[in-house]
Amino acid sequence: MPDMLVNLLKLPKDDGTEASLAQEGIIIRRALAPDKFRIVPRVQELSSLSAAGECDVCFSHSPISTFIATKGATIIGYACYNATAKDFFGPTAVDPAYRGKGIGKVLLIRALQALRHDGFAYAIIGGVGPVPFYEKTVGATVIPDSDPGVYEDFLGRISKLENQ
Ligand SMILES: CC(C)(COP(=O)(O)OP(=O)(O)OC[C@H]1O[C@@H](n2cnc3c(N)ncnc32)[C@H](O)[C@@H]1OP(=O)(O)O)[C@@H](O)C(=O)NCCC(=O)NCCS
Repeated sequence: MPDMLVNLLKLPKDDGTEASLAQEGIIIRRALAPDKFRIVPRVQELSSLSAAGECDVCFSHSPISTFIATKGATIIGYACYNATAKDFFGPTAVDPAYRGKGIGKVLLIRALQALRHDGFAYAIIGGVGPVPFYEKTVGATVIPDSDPGVYEDFLGRISKLENQ
């Protein structure tokens, strides 16, 4: 799973997706500390134990480096940044019932805008995943020779390799 590079100086302009989602009652916002024990287990449900660990780390940052998508009190998507390494985007996921509506793209752009605001000019999307999604939404490009990168010593990866 390679990493991808994104130019934060060329992020897409607001195309109205976030406002359309809001009309459907889907809100994208930064995670709040009192919701930590609602969000981290939901990240485990949507993704994995490893992703939940990464999200937990994001709650030790100020501001919390996780955005969530909600419908009412239900968490239907999330995106983390600065989790396993600084200036890295991920993990992220959208509930399968809500995919294809632009939620993943808005979460991604909100997190990348936050990295730009932190002063970075480029960001890394760590260990992708759906390369065409990142190419299409933010013009990301695959970084040569970037697999396994920062995840080399990750026990989840080693255990997967042992079980192959
Ligand atoms: C990847 C993911 C977050 C995308 O979320 P989503 O809300 O369905 O995506 P969006 O609706 O915002 O898609 C935005 C655009 O990307 C396209 N797209 C979405 N997923 C794609 C994929 N896997 N491959 C190619 N294009 C994709 C959509 O068709 C859409 O194109 P459009 O603007 O022309 O309509 C979601 O599919 C997911 O949770 N996948 C499983 C977890 C995962 O792979 N996480 C990433 C790990 S690096």
